[in-house]
Amino acid sequence: MAEKIVVIGTGYVGLPLAVMLARSGYRVVGVDIEENVVNAINEGVLRLAEKDVKKIFNEPQVRKNLHAQKTPCPADVFIISVPTPLDEKKRVADLSQVVSAVESVMPHLRSGNLVIVESTVPPLTCRNVIAPLIEKTGLKVGKDIFLCHCPERILPGEIFEEIVHNDRVIGGRDGRAAEMAREIYASFVRGNLYVTDDITAELVKLMENAYRDVNIALANEFAAVAEGLGVDVLKAIELADKHPRVNILKPGIGTGGHCIPVDPWFIKEVDPINSRLIHTARLINDEVPRKIAAKIRRALKDIKDPGIVALGVTYKPDTPDTRNSPALEIIRRLKEDGYRVVAYDPVAEGYGYSSIKEVARDADCLVVLVEHAAIRKELAKGEAGIKKAMRHPIVLRFYSESTES
Ligand SMILES: NC(=O)c1ccc[n+]([C@@H]2O[C@H](COP(=O)([O-])OP(=O)(O)OC[C@H]3O[C@@H](n4cnc5c(N)ncnc54)[C@H](O)[C@@H]3O)[C@@H](O)[C@H]2O)c1
Repeated sequence: MAEKIVVIGTGYVGLPLAVMLARSGYRVVGVDIEENVVNAINEGVLRLAEKDVKKIFNEPQVRKNLHAQKTPCPADVFIISVPTPLDEKKRVADLSQVVSAVESVMPHLRSGNLVIVESTVPPLTCRNVIAPLIEKTGLKVGKDIFLCHCPERILPGEIFEEIVHNDRVIGGRDGRAAEMAREIYASFVRGNLYVTDDITAELVKLMENAYRDVNIALANEFAAVAEGLGVDVLKAIELADKHPRVNILKPGIGTGGHCIPVDPWFIKEVDPINSRLIHTARLINDEVPRKIAAKIRRALKDIKDPGIVALGVTYKPDTPDTRNSPALEIIRRLKEDGYRVVAYDPVAEGYGYSSIKEVARDADCLVVLVEHAAIRKELAKGEAGIKKAMRHPIVLRFYSESTES
């Protein structure tokens, strides 16, 4: 029975996992190459702005069982949760961090160990990349070392709710690996645990995000068609949704976050012939920020040297996460075109403001890119007063539901 677990990579995915495992009674070592991440964990300082997390993080059982360090050590179980970004040029998974994470545990592997990959990876990565690496140690996967892919489904902002209550897929390279991993997750997951093989688990994670991406692309495509026809797309969607089997997402300013703009490319990487729809959806959604920037420019064409105040820089409402944010891309594009843009956000670090009325004073245009609840509330209360304080009362509001990841 496993007692000690090493979690490699203690970011959005690895740290909450390490905390939950420590809470379940395992001795957990969080390993991260970033010294400040390691120090923060050991000093009890939480770097994730997540609900309820502070409370759990400071529970005596967690403080006692969780320790962080910069390099791995021997353990019963090793969990890999390092980033798998997109190689922007080739549009394929950059597995370099996964490879170096696995290499860092190799000197500590011993017979009977379980290696779990939580990082999102293209199908066949466990079999064709990770297993051969592990076997360089002389230990055999399936005989000495047990290998599993257990993808993560958490939503930033709701991590501690979701890590416990979401159903999970456990993809074992073989039955024994799956059973060992199932036991670990059963210690804190209250959702169902579905056991399958590693390739299916790798594909399932990517299918989930490709599904979201394609549906978002469809909404964005409907918005473009409706605009050309002079039709209010939201009204049209509302009416289409009256069909008993139709449920269209809202168009947005593009996709963002760690998963949706990245993961569908990993399907194209392994099967470009059969992923044309997925590929097209990616291209459609990647185009949206450019179209939104053009829309803003059109609205300001008659104003000389307009001052723009942009509200919202995160990749979706009510999260401080700015990774792959389409809002930031829109702002960057406008600035590159010579527009004076100042960006504010009540949730993202470093973009705070006193009130919308104050920051919009004498501006020519207020662009709401990400409608956090706080922004929506303030606009509902005082949009007329805000407009009055502006030089030109141009307020452009874009919907941000479909930037979810
Ligand atoms: N963030 C999410 O919402 C989410 C959801 C589901 C799946 N995922 C997947 O989980 C994986 C991790 O994502 P994340 O959001 O936690 O990333 P992150 O950037 O928040 O954290 C990763 C951590 O790994 C560390 N790291 C990198 N290389 C390392 C190494 N060799 N050894 C030790 N530490 C190392 C980094 O310093 C960083 O602290 C990715 O594959 C991602 O696609 C993320």
